[in-house]
Amino acid sequence: MLNKMAFPPEALGAFAGIYPNSPAKLTHGLVGHPLLSLDALAQLAQALPAGSIEYNSGFLPIGIAPEDVPAPELGVVETIRRIAESGSWVALKRIEQVPAYAGLLRDVLAELKAVVAPRTGAMMQLEGFVFITSPGGVTPFHFDPEHNILLQIQGSKTMTLFPVEDEVLFSAPVHEDFHLGRHHRNLPWRDEFAAKGQAITIQPGEAIHVPVKAPHWVQNGDAPSVSLSVTWRSEWSYAEADARAFNSVLRGFGLHPRSPGAYPAQNRAKALAYRALRKVRG
Ligand SMILES: [Fe+2]
Repeated sequence: MLNKMAFPPEALGAFAGIYPNSPAKLTHGLVGHPLLSLDALAQLAQALPAGSIEYNSGFLPIGIAPEDVPAPELGVVETIRRIAESGSWVALKRIEQVPAYAGLLRDVLAELKAVVAPRTGAMMQLEGFVFITSPGGVTPFHFDPEHNILLQIQGSKTMTLFPVEDEVLFSAPVHEDFHLGRHHRNLPWRDEFAAKGQAITIQPGEAIHVPVKAPHWVQNGDAPSVSLSVTWRSEWSYAEADARAFNSVLRGFGLHPRSPGAYPAQNRAKALAYRALRKVRG
């Protein structure tokens, strides 16, 4: 249990002013939380299934014999403990698989429910991620399907966010392929996009609301960084995804369907049509 609120009243007020459409900088009270120290996160990495850990250790020598490459669990623990040295990153995914972290995620997201539920419906598929990165690391340009708040625990990072609904950045078929799992996670970057970006820098105790599918890239500051990402899906976000998928079907018939509307558009008819189609296709 949290012994204090994760989000102070002014953060909840700011969130209420922008959810779900706009990025915003918020504040939070999770700095120093015992579950988010590097030691605790190294233990979390040992408890998570291997499939929930992604990392890149910059520490292996160039000429290492295969039998000397550390086993993945040992490798990730070592990487976390030595994160201050340059060139590595760790993503711990779906941390709610470990009960203490499920409790933390539930408590943090419960504080947002009064703002979220009336707008985008019940909070579903609650998932948490921890990103541990060496100084200077970059996360390439991409978007994500979840509602997300990224809380900075240690170090700093700058996220540059782009408008969700700007199909000059990404055409409708790119959105459709994303929901159908057809394209690589990273999005193609063009220098003329830069002018449309909004850069938000967060220090420990600060957070960013990342709207569903707002394209973004991240630059780490010059200290090791630990961030917690708390995410959820909503009936609204599922409907947008399914309406995109249905549009892809229509496009296959040579039609030029209208893109799903931004919130508060309901996108329901197309979403229901796609769900029916998916059932038929099995
Ligand atoms: Fe992301």
